[in-house]
Amino acid sequence: MVLTNGNEIFNNARKGKYAVGAFNINDLEWTRGILAAAQETQTPILVQTSMGAAKYMGGYELCLHLVQDTIKSMGITVPVVMHLDHGNYEAAKECIEVGYNSVMFDGHDLPFDENLEKTKEIVKLAHAKGMSVEAEVGSIGGTEDGITGLGELADVEEAKTLAATGVDYLAVGIGNIHGVYPDNWKGLSFDRLQELAAEISTPLVLHGGSGIPKEQIVKAISMGISKVNVNTELQLAFAKATREYIEAGHDQDVDAKGYDPRKLLAPGTKAITDTTIERIKWFGTPSI
Ligand code: 13P
Repeated sequence: MVLTNGNEIFNNARKGKYAVGAFNINDLEWTRGILAAAQETQTPILVQTSMGAAKYMGGYELCLHLVQDTIKSMGITVPVVMHLDHGNYEAAKECIEVGYNSVMFDGHDLPFDENLEKTKEIVKLAHAKGMSVEAEVGSIGGTEDGITGLGELADVEEAKTLAATGVDYLAVGIGNIHGVYPDNWKGLSFDRLQELAAEISTPLVLHGGSGIPKEQIVKAISMGISKVNVNTELQLAFAKATREYIEAGHDQDVDAKGYDPRKLLAPGTKAITDTTIERIKWFGTPSI
């Protein structure tokens, strides 16, 4: 069984003080590139879609089929969790309906009581179908897919209350930001992470995994982070490799048909795989 809800993976990660990477997909190249990295390293992985990326690709059902069929056609044998990233209430319900393995209900911008009630509902619906749930407390800074967070630190009492709903993993704001980190970024708040990890045994999630220095990521994982989300880093790697291909004039090589998308997109796809492998190593994810 390749597709899995990830419960065992994350509980083992928290106990074993390593993390599993959750990588966002944007199209077929991303899907193939990320799955190739997991297979090469023989490690479990999360493939996740934001609401915007799913809309871009044609909907959640299409994304699920894309991942399922790519797993099959590539002969992927490592465990893969198909996860909804930063879903609102409606998106989380739809992905549960469609058959994802795991959903994030991101209610951080709601009044806390409403976030709590809706998280409880999503947990009930998802667990009834054997799926996992991630919730968020304290917003992640920056903007992703039009969702902007101010980057406040997670409140420990609120985090404990959300964890008590039975969520399978909990995204915590510890000074992390989506996208490229500004020059004046203060770094992760390890004090707050320590307070959270001391009170909560649920695996904790670090969003905004691109651009955080390796030492900070490794330290955060040693303190209780079990899932690290990465999106921007792969987009930058893809764009850089594609630009180099075009700047070298390969797309204009008519004899070699360098304009063929299968050639044009190949260096970017390889860059996605290489960057994903590098991050898997940073996270210390053990081979299965
Ligand atoms: P980055 O784009 O900063 O890597 O963040 C990804 C993320 O947290 C997705 O939820």
